[in-house]
Amino acid sequence: MIVLGIETSCDETGVALYSATEGLLAHRLYSQVAMHQVYGGVVPELASRDHVQKISPLIQATVAEAGVTLSQLGAVAYTAGPGLIGALLVGAAVGRSLAWALEIPAVEVHHMEAHLLAPLLEPNPPNFPFLALLVSGGHTLLVSVEGLGRYSILGESLDDAAGEAFDKTAKLLGLGYPGGPAVEKLAAFGDPQRFRFPRPMTNRPGLDFSFSGLKTYAANTVRNTALDEQAKADIARAFSDAVVETFVIKCRRALRATGLRTLVVAGGVSANRMLRDGLDRLGHESQIRVCYPQLQFCTDNGAMIAFAGCLRWRAGARAPAGFTVRARWPLDETG
Ligand code: KG4
Ligand code: ZN
Repeated sequence: MIVLGIETSCDETGVALYSATEGLLAHRLYSQVAMHQVYGGVVPELASRDHVQKISPLIQATVAEAGVTLSQLGAVAYTAGPGLIGALLVGAAVGRSLAWALEIPAVEVHHMEAHLLAPLLEPNPPNFPFLALLVSGGHTLLVSVEGLGRYSILGESLDDAAGEAFDKTAKLLGLGYPGGPAVEKLAAFGDPQRFRFPRPMTNRPGLDFSFSGLKTYAANTVRNTALDEQAKADIARAFSDAVVETFVIKCRRALRATGLRTLVVAGGVSANRMLRDGLDRLGHESQIRVCYPQLQFCTDNGAMIAFAGCLRWRAGARAPAGFTVRARWPLDETG
């Protein structure tokens, strides 16, 4: 009942072993961030090549750390999308080959479903149904979750994802890549009164998001301001406040509309302390339980893939004979 999980959808090579009876046995991550930093963002071709180099040693190290042998594996799960095609192909090819050689099933995992389920790795996990706010570098989704594979998308970003907006704003402020953690750090020193950024799409009904306007607002503010360290912090603070309040407003609206009593928040941006504080306040005020993954499982990792793969495997999922990976793959088409 042990599943090997492989994550290679973007710039992190993640590997983990999850046991259906004992939980997470081991997990390892190799981050390519340092390599991409000089380019200010992920270079897809470099990402694929680096996954090729890192994946096998990482699998060997993870298996050794868990104290198991490959022959004990029950299935191999890998991220089949959405993500960068070349990067996905590396994990898929390795995962499929290993499963074939070991004569065990391979299981395709949807990257955003894995993010969505990551809070269930924690002690005292939330029960279905719940509302999920997924905030990553590529996606921003509000999802009504009835159970495994039973997802209704209530809202999504019409343009930039929340993480992308953090990254672009960071670039405008001359901060490194990835921008989210850098903006968070700087925002802590910012004056919340100095600038006020708009709360996009909150003054009309609906649960969709739009973050590209915030980036433009940040660009205009940068242009019209003498950009010393304090001004950068003030802009980071105003941007973060706008993102957080927008999420609080939309989550409050979605909780009211659905009557759901649990909010699950996941994806890279869910590591943000200001966002957690804002949503915790909402939880307190609305008597709603709010759950997050532990910090290391907010951003991309192998543990969430092994865990989602294990749930899917036990529910009977098996990868089809021919193998495909998908750059785009709507979450509500996971079945
Ligand atoms: O989930 P993730 O690791 O990868 C995708 O599936 O896209 O999310 C990465 C995104 C990046 O845009 C990064 O800047 C953002 O999550 N992020 C943060 C924080 N940590 C990571 N954004 C805001 N605050 C953070 N602390
Ligand atoms: Zn991700």
